[in-house]
Amino acid sequence: MATGDGENSYAVNSSFQKKTLMETWPVLQKAVKEVLQSLSHGSTMVAADIGCSSGPNTLILVSEVMNTISDCVRETADNSRVKEVQFFLNDLPGNDFNLVFRSLEQLHSLASVAAPCYIAGLPGSMYTRIFPCQSVHLFHSSHCLIWRSKVPEDLSNGTHLNVDNIYIGKTTPQFVVKLFREQFKKDFEMFLTLRHKELVSDGRMVLTFVGRKREEMPMHGGVARVWEVLSEALQYLVQKGRVEKKKLSSFNMPYYAPLLDEATQLIKQNGLFDIEDIRFFESNWDAHDDSDGDVVLDCSSSAANIAKIIRAGIEPLILKQFGEGILDELFMVYTSILAKNLEKGKAMCPVIVVNLKKSKRSLPENMTTSVPV
Ligand SMILES: C[S@@+](CC[C@H](N)C(=O)[O-])C[C@H]1O[C@@H](n2cnc3c(N)ncnc32)[C@H](O)[C@@H]1O
Repeated sequence: MATGDGENSYAVNSSFQKKTLMETWPVLQKAVKEVLQSLSHGSTMVAADIGCSSGPNTLILVSEVMNTISDCVRETADNSRVKEVQFFLNDLPGNDFNLVFRSLEQLHSLASVAAPCYIAGLPGSMYTRIFPCQSVHLFHSSHCLIWRSKVPEDLSNGTHLNVDNIYIGKTTPQFVVKLFREQFKKDFEMFLTLRHKELVSDGRMVLTFVGRKREEMPMHGGVARVWEVLSEALQYLVQKGRVEKKKLSSFNMPYYAPLLDEATQLIKQNGLFDIEDIRFFESNWDAHDDSDGDVVLDCSSSAANIAKIIRAGIEPLILKQFGEGILDELFMVYTSILAKNLEKGKAMCPVIVVNLKKSKRSLPENMTTSVPV
């Protein structure tokens, strides 16, 4: 994500994620209450936000968990279960943790305090072990599991090409779609296995990620649409001689949006978690557009709003592949192609939220020893 709190940063351009995050509160609140019920008296509750990024959403999440604890203490008139809360904020080492730490003071005004809350940053990939065994009561992660641990190998080593798409587009060959899907399967299974080891028994995990509607092909729908427009914008810059063709054909995003059924099936096959609750909703990529119906009233301003969200999410990847010089121009072209595209109707994004409970089943023998550190 784009660091800092400047005009193009994730901190300033995460309204889509914020809106969807707040829609998941009922699922999160239920999970927090269940965790509290499972605690013995005088416990320290350990919670972690995986892929916390930097900006207001990080604080809102911590504050919602703390408020739910306060509500629960009030409702049950029992303040003896949680003595204190330890909250870990995890993200990749390149995350702007300094911005997060500087903003922590605001938490005091956001959260009501039922127990002291100690916050720590935890750099590391969610596809490696990041906690000691059985040490966490609650994992939360929003809009992070969409990111793959890497671009599928056969794409990054040039064995296969994805035409001029940067994700799965309408001209993406089927075997390339399969590579993206298999990478998601491997990563998601690894994530479940690692978090299962780190959770205490009866621990919970609330995961929110964008996905696809029932039976929607990967190259269709609200997620593919915003990336296909970015591919078109890059293709336009290739035609103008602003971007080298080989740079575009070798660029693929480490990303995959699963079907609701696909995610459910993988969780069931993995067998390490019971699904307590799973929900699906759609949210406008333009979080500022609350209008009813499918018609976009102002395509230009809606496209500009969506372009800011997409830019804040992908800027470091674009910068690494194509250099800083094209950023402003690319997103100007993106906005104008998207404005035209929005004449077809709103860009809605499918969102999946799931509350998982650590299952009593144990890990298969070959998975208990060799998880990467
Ligand atoms: C779209 S942001 C979501 C931030 C925040 N959770 C929210 O809902 O606004 C996705 C975050 O996931 C992080 N991320 C991506 N891959 C990761 C990994 N392997 N391990 C930990 N964090 C990762 C990114 O660095 C980024 O900060």
